[in-house]
Amino acid sequence: MDIRFTDEQEMMRKMVRDFAEKEIAPFVEKMEQGEFPREVLKKMGGLGLMGIPVPEEYGGAEMDFMSYIIAINEISRVSAAVGVILSVHTSVGTNPILYFGNEEQKQKYVPKMAAGEWLGAFCLTEPGAGSDAGNLKSKAVLDGDSYVLNGAKVFITNGGEADVYIVFARTAGDAISAFIVEKGTKGLIIGKDEKKMGLHGSRTVQLTFEDMRIPRENLLGIEGEGFKIAMSNLDAGRIGIGAQALGIAEAALSAAIDYAKERHQFGKPIAAQQGIAFKLADMATAVEAARLLVYRAASLRSAGLKCGQEASMAKLLASKTAVETATEAIQVFGGYGYTEDYPVERYFRDAKVTEIYEGTSEIQRHVIARQL
Ligand code: CAA
Repeated sequence: MDIRFTDEQEMMRKMVRDFAEKEIAPFVEKMEQGEFPREVLKKMGGLGLMGIPVPEEYGGAEMDFMSYIIAINEISRVSAAVGVILSVHTSVGTNPILYFGNEEQKQKYVPKMAAGEWLGAFCLTEPGAGSDAGNLKSKAVLDGDSYVLNGAKVFITNGGEADVYIVFARTAGDAISAFIVEKGTKGLIIGKDEKKMGLHGSRTVQLTFEDMRIPRENLLGIEGEGFKIAMSNLDAGRIGIGAQALGIAEAALSAAIDYAKERHQFGKPIAAQQGIAFKLADMATAVEAARLLVYRAASLRSAGLKCGQEASMAKLLASKTAVETATEAIQVFGGYGYTEDYPVERYFRDAKVTEIYEGTSEIQRHVIARQL
């Protein structure tokens, strides 16, 4: 199977690559100091990048899922932090409303999210429900024309910065339901901002809900169907994180190749020493394999076909490749790679979480294995 991109998709890649190099790269240092890339996201909104697969009638760019994955891939080569912000905002922030919302909800939220005016977040994980997401304990009790929600969430990407939160909680009969919660809702408490190993430009917070009243009309989809909403959107989300991991791996490979050609030892470039040359060959082969799985899963999703297993395979391999390629890139750089003077240590720190969030590698194997 050969994956070929259309002219439109190639144009998207070029446009996003130029944008990332001109507008995101200069901001990376500030993000490393913990600054949230508000200005960058605003510019991305202006270019239609915050709503790539969203239909025009809801203010989106109405491009295919493949183009969206290309954008995450390209952005993540420069900044994995901006990559995850975009992936969470679109795959699990905006898409649940687009696919499961009623017309009123779609009209109210999606155009602002697609324009990048409102940022989305996805609130599934709890202190006692990480991999076992179905064991969540947050509870929403219907009281008159609103639900009263109590509970806690952890590791919420975009939390605190987001305007729209997709929140999962138990409702009558212990079934899980999904809700749209707006920033500023009374009882929505933004907690600890996690100090992370990497992705310093992205925000990851704890949330607490204290007698938080959600208007009944903010129930997303049918009451009790929340877990399916979470899982089906995670299928696409995992391709996005696969593309993010691929971007990190590509950046690490490219830095290692450039450095290996410049750095001389024993009278010749280290790229010409077999120990390094073979390492680069293995890295390039792994990156190509990850690229094929990510774009294969994206092409299935673009065609509206089932892609759960392929999405998990893509995320599993791409995240492993990101970690291994970044590790090997540091090895190629030697002592310099261990310093903050070169970007490979950032790739290494950013890569690790791709094996953890949106389902750990163990959960991806579980999803793949049970379909074999
Ligand atoms: N699409 C639609 N429905 C699905 C589905 C899918 N992909 N997967 C499962 N379902 C449905 C099932 O059909 C089932 O429905 P019925 O009860 O009607 O049969 C229901 O959901 C329950 O499914 P399971 O029995 O498979 O549920 P489970 O408890 O065994 O859990 C799991 C499955 C795969 C382990 C799941 O808990 C899981 O994915 N865990 C990982 C959690 C995760 O990925 N968290 C990510 C958080 S978001 C994030 O990380 C964002 C970020 O910051 C970057």
